Amino acid sequence: MVRKAWISAVSHYVPDKVLTNFDLEKMVDTNDEWIRTRTGIKERRILDPGLATSDMAAEAVKKLCMQRNIDPMDIEVIIVATVTPDMFFPSTGNLVQEKSGSKNAWSFDVAAACSGFLYALSIGTQYIRAGTHNKVVVVGSDKMSAITNYRDRNTCVLFGDAAGAVLLEPTEDDDKGIIDSMLFSDGSGADYLKMKAGGSLHPASLETITSDWHFIYQDGKTVFKFAVQKMADVSVDILEKNGYQGSDLNMFIPHQANQRIIDGAVKRLGIDYDKVMINIERYGNTTAATIPLALSEAYQQGRVEKGGLILFATFGGGFTWGSSLVKWGLEKPTT
Ligand code: UT7
Repeated sequence: MVRKAWISAVSHYVPDKVLTNFDLEKMVDTNDEWIRTRTGIKERRILDPGLATSDMAAEAVKKLCMQRNIDPMDIEVIIVATVTPDMFFPSTGNLVQEKSGSKNAWSFDVAAACSGFLYALSIGTQYIRAGTHNKVVVVGSDKMSAITNYRDRNTCVLFGDAAGAVLLEPTEDDDKGIIDSMLFSDGSGADYLKMKAGGSLHPASLETITSDWHFIYQDGKTVFKFAVQKMADVSVDILEKNGYQGSDLNMFIPHQANQRIIDGAVKRLGIDYDKVMINIERYGNTTAATIPLALSEAYQQGRVEKGGLILFATFGGGFTWGSSLVKWGLEKPTT
C-alpha cells in the first residue's frame, strides 16, 4: 500500500468590500468594456486597511477546521504561499499559526508568486508521503491591494485580495489523492513581473517611494505570451505523463489571471467550459489564492465529483509555472 496525500477539506475567505470596474473608471483612465474584454474581470475584493494577508489566511484555516470538524490544535504544519507577507519576518505562516489557534503547528512561507499555491501543495504532499506528518495545511493568501498602484491602469484593474486553504491528510485509497505535480521556474523572466524595491537590493528609501518601486510592475504583453504557452503546455503534459486526456477530467481549475489565458489552455485540453472553474469576473487575480479559492467555490457549488479527476494549472512571476493532478475524495456538500 502506498501512502499518499489527499485533500480532506477546502475553504476560502474573501473580504466584503467590492471594487468594480466602474469604481476604477473614476480612479484611472480605463473603462468597464476594456477590462472585461481584455481580462474577463468585472470586480475584485479589497481588504480593509489595518488587516493583512495573515488575517485572511487565518479565517480560511478556521473554516477549514470547522469543515473537517477538527481542533486547530491538531494541525501539524502550516505552509502559506504569498507575495504579500504581512512583513518580511516573522513569516506569515507564523502569524497564521497564532491567529488561527494552531498552537501545535510549525509554519513557514513559500514565495513563488501566482504559482505559490501549487509549489506549497507539492511541499505539503511530501510531508504526508514521507509519513512524518498527518495534518498539513496549505494556504494561498494575498492582499494584492497593498502592492497595487491605483494610479497605474496597466496593473490596478487586474488584482484583488483573497485567501484559500486545503487540509492534507494521508490515505492509502486508490480512488483519491494527489497524483502528481510538475513545477518549473525560469529566472530569466524576473524583470517582466516584479516588485522592485523593499528587498535587500533596493531597501526602502525616499527614491524608491517616489519612483513607485514598492508597487507591482508588469510587462503585460511579454508575460501574456509566456503564460498562454506555458500554462497550456503544462496542463497537457501532466495528463499525458499520467496516461490521461482532457476528456478524463471532471474539472479544470486554472490560475485566474486573464480569461484569454484560460481560453488558450481550455482549447489545448479540448474540454467543455462546464468542466472549467472560472471566477475571475468576481475576484480578479488574487495571485497565490486563485486556485484554492476556485477549488473551494467549485466544491461548494457541487461541481466536483467524488473520485473525479481535477487538474490545476498556473503561471506567474519568476517566471514560475506548473500543474497538479488530483483525484477528488470528498462527497458533495449537503448544504
Ligand atoms: O498572474 C501572473 C501572470 N500575469 C498574467 O498572466 C498577466 C498577463 N498579461 C495580461 O493579461 C495582459 O497583457 C493585460 C491584461 C495585462 C493587458 O492586455 P493586453 O491585451 O496585452 O493590452 P496591452 O498591454 O497590449 O495594451 C493595449 C492597449 C494599450 O494602448 P495602446 O498602446 O494600444 O494605445 C494600453 O495603454 O490598452 C491600453 N491599456 C488600457 N486601456 C484601458 C492598458 N491598460 C488599460 C486599461 N484601460 N486598464
